[in-house]
Amino acid sequence: MASLTGAWAQPAPSINSGGIVNAASSAPGAPVAPGSIASVYGNFLLSAPSWALGIPLPTNLGGLSLAFGAVEAPLLYASSGQVNLQIPWELAGQPPAVTATLAGQTSAPQTVNLAPFAPGIFSMNGQGTGPGAILDSSYHLVTASNPAAAGITVILIYCTGLGAVTNQPETGAAAPSNPLAVTITKPSVTIGSVPAQVLFSGLAPGSVGEYQVNALVPSNAPTGDAVQVILSIGSATSNAVEIAVQPPTPDQRADQLLTQMTQDQKIQLVYGAVGTATAASTRGGAGWVPGIPQLGIPDLYLADGSVGVGNGVGPATALPSSIASAASWDVSEAYKYGSVIGAELRAYGMNVNLGGNVNLIGREPRDGRTFETKGEDPILAGKITAAHINAIQAQHVIGGIKHFALNDQETGRTTADVRIDERGMRESDLLAFEIGVKDSNVQSVMCSYNLVNDVYACENQHLLNDILKGDWQFPGFVMSDWGATHSTVAAALAGLDQEQPDNAFFGSLAQAVASGQVPQSRLDDMVHRILRAMYATGLFDYPAAITPIDTTGDQAIAQDAEEQGAVLLKNAGGQLPLNAAAAKSIAIVGSHADVAVLSGGGSAQVTPTGGPALTEGYPCPPCWAQVIWDPSSPLQAIRAMAPNATVQFDPGTNPATPAALAAASQMAIVFVSQWTSEGMDLPSLNFTDAIHSPPIDQDALVAAVAAANPHTIVVMENAGAQVMPWLGSVSAVLEAWFPGQRGGEAIANILFGAVNPSGKLPITFPASVNDLPRPVIATPPDSTTPFPVDYSEGFNVGYKWYDSQGFTPLFPFGFGLSYTTFSFSNVAVVNNPTSGNPNFQVTFKLTNTGYVAGAEVAQVYLAFPASTGEPPKRLVGWQKVFLQPGAAEQVTIEVDANDSSHPLSYWDVNSNAWLIAPGVYTVYLGNSSSSASLVTAGTLQIGS
Ligand code: BGC
Repeated sequence: MASLTGAWAQPAPSINSGGIVNAASSAPGAPVAPGSIASVYGNFLLSAPSWALGIPLPTNLGGLSLAFGAVEAPLLYASSGQVNLQIPWELAGQPPAVTATLAGQTSAPQTVNLAPFAPGIFSMNGQGTGPGAILDSSYHLVTASNPAAAGITVILIYCTGLGAVTNQPETGAAAPSNPLAVTITKPSVTIGSVPAQVLFSGLAPGSVGEYQVNALVPSNAPTGDAVQVILSIGSATSNAVEIAVQPPTPDQRADQLLTQMTQDQKIQLVYGAVGTATAASTRGGAGWVPGIPQLGIPDLYLADGSVGVGNGVGPATALPSSIASAASWDVSEAYKYGSVIGAELRAYGMNVNLGGNVNLIGREPRDGRTFETKGEDPILAGKITAAHINAIQAQHVIGGIKHFALNDQETGRTTADVRIDERGMRESDLLAFEIGVKDSNVQSVMCSYNLVNDVYACENQHLLNDILKGDWQFPGFVMSDWGATHSTVAAALAGLDQEQPDNAFFGSLAQAVASGQVPQSRLDDMVHRILRAMYATGLFDYPAAITPIDTTGDQAIAQDAEEQGAVLLKNAGGQLPLNAAAAKSIAIVGSHADVAVLSGGGSAQVTPTGGPALTEGYPCPPCWAQVIWDPSSPLQAIRAMAPNATVQFDPGTNPATPAALAAASQMAIVFVSQWTSEGMDLPSLNFTDAIHSPPIDQDALVAAVAAANPHTIVVMENAGAQVMPWLGSVSAVLEAWFPGQRGGEAIANILFGAVNPSGKLPITFPASVNDLPRPVIATPPDSTTPFPVDYSEGFNVGYKWYDSQGFTPLFPFGFGLSYTTFSFSNVAVVNNPTSGNPNFQVTFKLTNTGYVAGAEVAQVYLAFPASTGEPPKRLVGWQKVFLQPGAAEQVTIEVDANDSSHPLSYWDVNSNAWLIAPGVYTVYLGNSSSSASLVTAGTLQIGS
């Protein structure tokens, strides 16, 4: 019997019953496997914790050892309550019991639940739950801040208990790194319950008892911050730990696909193949890039679409002009407009849109493409364009913005060399592009035909690399306008990513890369940009499905766009709206108003659903674009509004007969029209007739009718700014733009007051062409020699130009009448200059003081301190507000200094950055840019 006298007897160490657990999963009672790491809990009587300092692991820490029969276990860590150890490999097949020995005393044995496989994944909390010790291939933990990309990321799962391995190290020795020790039995991995491909399973090189399993996160794995990862071998299943999984970014997907591509396949994507195409393969669009079926890369079908589906792809909804969309001053209306273009392109299987014309033609309002653009102000134009593009890309069609940059006249467009200073372009045309790019995530940019400061736009390093891809971080691809590429190496190095429509220059790109003139990395970048655009807009995930277009729904939007965008310019004596009940006889004159409304020509030309009402040849210039009249009859729509009136039509080809009809009628409505097209500029801003030879003198026609009847209303179907020598003699003028194929109905609704007009001019109507920055359009000496077009007006485009020159326009930018009246009251500017944040708000009460419901566009203009040299005022914000008669609304317009439009900044050429100048700013509020319609809302003191 042991003596209890004398010295105090040291107790023996003990191991808890069932106290041996898998160190990774920590599951009580769960088995452990030979070679893996286990934790043993008990009372080990150590006064201080002790760690293994190296490999091979010791079998004794602080005097403590644990043994499985005769085999001592390698120890990683020992404390008074816990020991971490490796289950010796030698135990395979033996029913073991474990004992702990300290200072010559040994614990009672505890049975170990041993199995060939006991998978456990190490977790970050040591409890076997929550985020796991799972890394990406850059050895970063895969957590919410570093999510795995589904289908792309290979995760490294650190675990234990996967059983025997090849090349097995001795117990306690480091896993070999060459050759690796691979598990004899491969585990299965599920990620969010979806089986994952296992790429490697073996011991983690250089460590003891730890395994590494590499698995590809499945593309159909669920996404989120807590997606469970589970390992299993047969029925032995690990604990579940969590990783974060996100869908792969377009850039990740593009990079992955790029690794699988041959050089020939890469080259195939960087130019159009129209020359080798059949009508079926191009689907009738303007361009085609064949896909690579082996890699699942779809064909690119490129089609114009500024005012509806262009290029005669098929009958499509002819929307009113883009400039009419801008005249709505309403980005949600503009989004609906874009959605028609996107949906119909998609219905025709087109997946790249060549729309987004944001050239600031206010510099040159005679530009034949004015109808495709969004007016003269960079902010309004940029925001409306962004809305169109957002809507188009939402339909899984790659959006486009063009023509980059400063392509503001058609005369000599392929050789015009625009000369402009850096600040001038940054604050005008380029600003419209910058807003369009940044606010829409647009995926393609079309570089233009012209030169900018002596360099062709499509090989202009400054425009493409420095500004677009550098300053603005544009991630998509740059394509050339059709035939606007002039070189292989220079263009590729300057930032052109895709030549269209053929391979005149990029056909030699492979040789240029092989010879080192163009780095391989640049070719890879081109392809990456094209692929990422395709991924970003869903071309891979939502393949085109050719379907019928929604004619009814889309035409309703077309009509709405016209009703929101038409601008009432004159309404003397309340001539409008017409009283249907009182109308007895109406003369309708001119512009085929009996059957049709006019549309603009060129690549943006839409073939209207139902077919053209009328075509009128191919005027020269441009000599290649057909005149198409959309099928919508103002005459019929007016007759429907005034069923009791006699409504008669005169074609207006001879001024004498309509004057007689007008004299015999209660009122006359004269439709004047001005056809314009890509490939031409107008000779003047009068209603010259570009269609007929000899031309019909429509100005004389209006004058004759107005002389015969004082109740003469003029409806204009034209692209942009006009002069109106007859303005003083007519009672009302409605700017209908090219009104689209529901234009007749929209015009009738406005004339009779079913719709109250609310459009505002997005372009100034000057009093005379003599007031333009260039009264005479610069013309080329021949078809090949670049010729200068001097933009000495710089950023003074549109109203900024007329303001700076003190010219009073015929109708100012932002102007448009309503059938009701509005008042602004309680106008104030709110900001907190001490916060260091120059953002400000303009607050006011807007009241509908008239008798019918209507919408007003409240516009905020800012005058900068004189020291900045900015134009007299700049549009910085607006809001369109709809009010019932007598109703009032408290409105706040926020001007955010950080907005993509840089509303408070000027471009500083020294620091090459947008800067906010200190000084006093004056804030104006009103309903047009004319000083007479603005009130001073307040001043802002910025800085000292
Ligand atoms: C026009 C582009 C158009 C392209 C394809 C060119 O002539 O300038 O705007 O996208 O043709 O039709």
